[in-house]
Amino acid sequence: MRRSFAGSLTGALALTAMAVAAPQASGGTTTPDGVVVGGQPVQISQSPWVVALSSRDRFGGTRAGQFCGGVLVAPAKVLTAAHCVSSEVLGVPLAQVRDLEVIAGRSELKGAGGREIAVSDVKLNPAYDSKTNAGDFALLTLSSPLPAADTIKAAGPGHAAYTAGTGAVVYGWGDTTGAGSYADELRAAPVKVLPDSACERAYPGLVGGTYRADTMLCAGDENGGHDACQGDSGGPLVADGRLIGLVSWGSGCGQARNPGVYARLSAAPETWAERS
Ligand code: ARG
Repeated sequence: MRRSFAGSLTGALALTAMAVAAPQASGGTTTPDGVVVGGQPVQISQSPWVVALSSRDRFGGTRAGQFCGGVLVAPAKVLTAAHCVSSEVLGVPLAQVRDLEVIAGRSELKGAGGREIAVSDVKLNPAYDSKTNAGDFALLTLSSPLPAADTIKAAGPGHAAYTAGTGAVVYGWGDTTGAGSYADELRAAPVKVLPDSACERAYPGLVGGTYRADTMLCAGDENGGHDACQGDSGGPLVADGRLIGLVSWGSGCGQARNPGVYARLSAAPETWAERS
């Protein structure tokens, strides 16, 4: 189970798999030190909109079945990455996963805090392209609602939070090193919104992926060391108290020249997240 966890996550994208096979092979002098890479533990009460996606059937019970992140955007609605519910990640078609759940209010996956709520419906962004990962959004409906106070709003198109240079925070239970050390505790790392040109340069579509500024957002650390990583997908990138991105893909983790690529919230289906 543990093996299928790592295997299916790294299989999600060819370039991710490559990067995991040779972690930090070209990372220069930066040594990611924490998850989310370069992060630190945070209390879920400070960011109650961060949720974990879980299937113990698919990923085993050790870490409560966590395999991706998600964001509570309405009491019974969770946004996550479309690739998180692909058969590549799940190992089987979504329809065969009987125990897809959202874990809310729990920082420590091995603990019993918060609530586990069954997912009753999954919608894929009609504009999602699984080949390029453009429009990497899915909307989950929960079988019972969470408090409205725990939700977060998205930054609407044109919001200043999308501007390059804005400080942002990425949250998740993913790999903290790029070498397969998955976090048990929710972590957060500070990153910066980077100019589209930084990701266009890093991902011109030759080896890895292709960066598309209309549906993707570039963020990271110009000096390396702070980034999302495997297992963080679908989780939130937040700036100015607004959701601006979902962890989507990248080459390696925390490398200065390979920033993180996020699904740009302003490109999500309009009715899926309240904006302001
Ligand atoms: N695709 C990965 C996942 O499924 C997320 C990778 C993010 N990588 C990065 N360097 N920011 O968890």
